[in-house]
Amino acid sequence: MKASAHHTPPLQNTSSSAWTAFNGANTKSKLANILSLEDFETKARAYLPKALYGYIAGSVETRQSWKDNFNAFEEWGFVPRVLQNVARRSQSTTLFNHEWSCPFGIAPMGIAALSTYDGDQVMARAAAQANIPFILSGSSLTRLESIMEVAPNSWFQAYLPGEQQRINGLIARVKAAGVKTLVITVDIPVAGNRENNIRAGFSTPLRPSNRLIWDGLTHPRWLLGTFLRTLMDGVPHFENSFAERGAPIISRNVERDFSNREHLDWGHIEKIREQWPGHLIIKGILNAQDAALAKAKGADGIIISNHGGRQLDGAVSPLRVLPDVVQATGKLPVMLDGGIRRGSDVLKALALGAKFVFLGRPFNFAAATASQDGVNHAIALLKAEIDRNMAMLGVNQPEELGEAFLMRLYCECRGRYQRIGYCR
Ligand SMILES: Cc1cc2nc3c(=O)[nH]c(=O)nc-3n(C[C@H](O)[C@H](O)[C@H](O)COP(=O)(O)O)c2cc1C
Repeated sequence: MKASAHHTPPLQNTSSSAWTAFNGANTKSKLANILSLEDFETKARAYLPKALYGYIAGSVETRQSWKDNFNAFEEWGFVPRVLQNVARRSQSTTLFNHEWSCPFGIAPMGIAALSTYDGDQVMARAAAQANIPFILSGSSLTRLESIMEVAPNSWFQAYLPGEQQRINGLIARVKAAGVKTLVITVDIPVAGNRENNIRAGFSTPLRPSNRLIWDGLTHPRWLLGTFLRTLMDGVPHFENSFAERGAPIISRNVERDFSNREHLDWGHIEKIREQWPGHLIIKGILNAQDAALAKAKGADGIIISNHGGRQLDGAVSPLRVLPDVVQATGKLPVMLDGGIRRGSDVLKALALGAKFVFLGRPFNFAAATASQDGVNHAIALLKAEIDRNMAMLGVNQPEELGEAFLMRLYCECRGRYQRIGYCR
């Protein structure tokens, strides 16, 4: 299970010069004003059809969890040290026998191949070049095997099918593809209530309608550069939900098979542990008791997540439960995602005990903005922010961070939750 540090995977660049020319060949100008991860969203919003942008940016119901993912970071301030000789800074982090160049990676996101042409490959290649982990989604439109060819250090995220036999088939396929790290997402016993998708007429598979066609026609760069270009290779299917191919992405009547997930329990994780020799990560944990259970059932790590606010509305932000989860799991690597947009957010999570973090939407929007150059740029921006902030915090290694570098800025005062110093 040892992967060599800084292993350089074979990289392929599939973008043809004609398409680069079509897209304006002006990646430089597309990225010129992108100074932070947040800046990608504006560009991606202009590029993507409304319904698709809404699917990526959206969350559920009142967006409470989505909002809280950001608020939770703002409630902590830094208490930096000075004159610490920070000339030897490195953010490299060893996790699951691999030395990654940064303490962050790309979270799994379904149907990323609709955000930009070959979106999963684009993100996988960018991650491989930067030596950070990319997690391929179980709801992706790109075959797992083809991702492992270009980026063999990629992780794979599975949604468990309802029947044990189908789970076994999927695990056997993932093993045969050479995956070393398997992430099982467990926060979807049923689908979340994504009202924004219903309002926008968005569904998977896409049901062709005048509205969706108009949405595509009014976003011609996406229509030609991503959608029609993709269709020229054939109608994409959900490739990695099961051992076999799943539903097509466009269909008037085919349904995706989400059946039978409600009965899944920890017994299924035990059975997977018996079959899966690689690293096993459980994603979507918020409760310290579940974190301890995951450890007891043989997980090698967990990702605390509320699915980016896309499942249970009102579910707490991962950052809020992080210290309790770390306490409940001892040395188990605890990772986290949700609402991370800045290097300072990454460092706050590490200071509160996370070993590693993942980001979703910003990398998706970066891919939509400028394909692999966009994702490369996003990784470079975040890496530079972490490096700069490590210097100003007075640390050389992520492991030096701890709660001593943080101060809570909010408190409960006379029954009200408010910023410290503003209590009346
Ligand atoms: C468009 C989109 C698709 C997603 N698809 C999946 C998925 O297939 N599997 C999964 O475990 N999580 C999925 N997620 C959740 C992300 O893995 C991650 O938990 C979340 O995006 C983190 O929040 P952030 O976007 O604020 O960084 C998806 C998120 C988005 C935005």
